[in-house]
Amino acid sequence: MNWSTFLAHQLDMRKQQALWRQRQIIKKNDARTLIFDQQQYVNFSSNDYLGLSQHSAIIKAWQIGLSQYGAGSGSSGHVIGYRCAHAQLERQLADWLGYSRALLFISGYAVNQSVIMALMNKNDHIVADKLSHASILEAAMMSPATLQRFAHNQSDALQQLLAVKHTGKTLVATEGVFSMDGDSAPLGQLQAVARQAQAWLLVDDAHGIGVSGDEGRGSCYLHKVKPELLVVTFGKAFGLSGAALLCDEITADYFLQYGRHLIYSTSMPPAQAVALAEAVRQIRQADESRANLQRNIDYFRQLANHYNLPLLNSPSAIQPLIIGSNQRCLHLSQFLRQRGFWVQAIRPPTVPPGSARLRITLTANHQLADIAQLMEALNEFFNNHADK
Ligand SMILES: Cc1ncc(COP(=O)(O)O)c(C=O)c1O
Repeated sequence: MNWSTFLAHQLDMRKQQALWRQRQIIKKNDARTLIFDQQQYVNFSSNDYLGLSQHSAIIKAWQIGLSQYGAGSGSSGHVIGYRCAHAQLERQLADWLGYSRALLFISGYAVNQSVIMALMNKNDHIVADKLSHASILEAAMMSPATLQRFAHNQSDALQQLLAVKHTGKTLVATEGVFSMDGDSAPLGQLQAVARQAQAWLLVDDAHGIGVSGDEGRGSCYLHKVKPELLVVTFGKAFGLSGAALLCDEITADYFLQYGRHLIYSTSMPPAQAVALAEAVRQIRQADESRANLQRNIDYFRQLANHYNLPLLNSPSAIQPLIIGSNQRCLHLSQFLRQRGFWVQAIRPPTVPPGSARLRITLTANHQLADIAQLMEALNEFFNNHADK
């Protein structure tokens, strides 16, 4: 097969299965509205849960960082790219989240890849929740270790897998709040089962950090667990981008020696670290925003029950509506867009086949009327377009 036949065939398959993905140029995007093609929509597809991407103090901090440090870091942290701003942010994150050390990474994707690639060897096992993020599952598949998946959020299923003894090390991996289902992992049970088997626990709390727990410390704090490896990302509630790994001293030292994503990749711009430090300060005092978000979640779920919509058991800002067919899900997303709501259809392979869904995300900035109007539109769709 030549290259062009290969590419054309692959693209054709995506189109035939209603799996074609495309980017759209969004003109303005805050945590409540967005502008696309000169039209304003109420935005229910943002992970900017607290609206911090537009926070004036964070924007200002980034500007101050730029004038202090310039635009980029100039190299990996192991060469000359580790500045005072990086060190201060790492210290601040570690203190806030109760760990000895924090290490900054360029993205959540990179930190999960790095953790698994650096720690896991041939005779090791990675036992991951079936619905873990692609960055965890892919890294596990590519690593020399054996990947096993346990039934979503089932600590009994995990226990059964861990009961089989192996010679190597075992890493249990899960998310604090699941990115596509919105439900929370039973972290207390998972930690107990992992400890009993002398396995380490990795919790990726991309969607819990900033949003839940006292001062936004996230899912682990809320569930009173302390995993050996905690991943937090800055692209959601922080309103920026980047990520960090929280761990103990010896593990951090190990990553500085063996973490290829740290050694061979340019570190984040120091100005961004200055902005992130301000985002941590804002998050710690954002009780009012967290209360608004909770009010919006409660209202959404109350109306969804009223309209008898097929909700999942999600207490979080992520409220998926499972539609099933890719085609119907796209149709619903389009229907909502015509009524002024931007809600992304999520299709396989991001979610399992046959479980295409609308991933509705709520933020602290939504008004109750935004939610009421969305629910009316959804109700109209389900009453009048049952066959589509
Ligand atoms: C659970 C989870 N982990 C990791 C990531 C990747 O984070 P980043 O966007 O910083 O690469 C995401 C992003 O979608 C996520 O939802």
